[in-house]
Amino acid sequence: MTADAGAQRLVAGRYAVNGMLGRGGMGVVWRANDQVLGRPVALKEVTFPAHLTDDEREALRNRTLREARAAARLVHPCVTTLYDVVEEDGRPWLVMEHVESRSLQEIVQREGPLPWRAVARIGLDVLDALEAAHAAGIVHRDVKPANVLVGRDCAAHLTDFGIAIATGGPSITTSGAIIGSPSYMAPERARGEEPGPAVDLWSLGATLYTAVEGRLAFDRPESMATLLAVVSEDPAPTELAGPLAPVLEGLLTKDAVARWDVPRTRSALRAALEGAGPGPEWTPRPQGPGDDRDDDANAGSRPTLGGQVERFDIDDLRALASVIHSVARDARDQARYLADRRKERKERKDLQEKSGRRSSRPTPAPAAAAPPSAPPSAPPSPARAAAPVQRRRRFKRRWVVVPVVLTVLAVLAALAGVVALLAAAFGVW
Ligand SMILES: Nc1ncnc2c1ncn2[C@@H]1O[C@H](COP(=O)(O)OP(=O)(O)O)[C@@H](O)[C@H]1O
Ligand SMILES: [Mg+2]
Repeated sequence: MTADAGAQRLVAGRYAVNGMLGRGGMGVVWRANDQVLGRPVALKEVTFPAHLTDDEREALRNRTLREARAAARLVHPCVTTLYDVVEEDGRPWLVMEHVESRSLQEIVQREGPLPWRAVARIGLDVLDALEAAHAAGIVHRDVKPANVLVGRDCAAHLTDFGIAIATGGPSITTSGAIIGSPSYMAPERARGEEPGPAVDLWSLGATLYTAVEGRLAFDRPESMATLLAVVSEDPAPTELAGPLAPVLEGLLTKDAVARWDVPRTRSALRAALEGAGPGPEWTPRPQGPGDDRDDDANAGSRPTLGGQVERFDIDDLRALASVIHSVARDARDQARYLADRRKERKERKDLQEKSGRRSSRPTPAPAAAAPPSAPPSAPPSPARAAAPVQRRRRFKRRWVVVPVVLTVLAVLAALAGVVALLAAAFGVW
């Protein structure tokens, strides 16, 4: 349905469409009026691209119903309320609470990075929404700026439970694919592992990062490269985050177990707000006449801030994880080798210092300290093999040379004794 056609439509004989609210990966969200109850609503129309097979249409239909069921389980002021699901044109439409708002993505695209205090308040609202979702056994799996709606009063709502799952439910589609927005996807999802509630906290970290910095934490030109960065690299350093920097770091912790959880994040955000005292007030800029929502004409000229949902083959993700695993193993070996060399250099230096101290004393003669071994060779692999060998050689010398010298002395003393006896016997002396 085009914007014009959509704006004149009566859906399910009851919802009079009067404008477009936004557009996402699933379709279009319309502003409408419920003619029975006389209240404004948001209507989510799921568009089925023409080339879809029957199976794919069925999968999309199921996805919409799953979103509806997940959203219906949640009643919370920071989650958009689902009113109903209606069937029109053989497709399900979601009827939702109309939140007078803009998406966080739209705001950052239009206004640039937001002051950290505003971002902290948005973060606290989304945390409340996530806490409620997780308590209801739902993992959102697609927290990102496009799915956070910010009202005129700066209150934020989490929306779009389209790829949410009930905890313990299968996260991989029947076709063996994983869906998500790579720049906001947690490392464990990028590795094809089962997602738990911690994935939403990672995505919240990436979302708040985008809002406060005006750019992505992991920005690569291609989605697989983005996932590789998510799994194996640090986020780009922050410049504008101020006291939110440690919170972002805590949320963007790669290890899901060590990642900050809801209570820790909440208390850190509150402490940052209280500790900094009052700051400049921020509210989203009012919508101007040429400021129409996410329409196609404007969309191309703005940065996307990595909001698109993409589909990844689970086998590709597992292959990516194994490449990363072997790279990490090489890095670990290299680090171990460098640590060995450092230790060896230190030992050698200690020995040199000890022998230097002894030689500077007037008497007695300098002790025969083990001579420092030759400097380690430069190329890593032979030297890596040589390092333990050099240590073993020093150790052996000490324990082999001393007994040999003592044995030789004993043999010489015995020989001298025998010669003396013989000399005495033959009356040489
Ligand atoms: N309840 C709502 N009230 C107001 N605007 C909404 C509402 N739901 C969605 N929108 C707008 O529509 C956009 C797309 O909605 P979303 O549910 O994320 O769709 P998709 O599943 O296609 O990504 C959002 O970014 C937001 O701008
Ligand atoms: Mg969305």
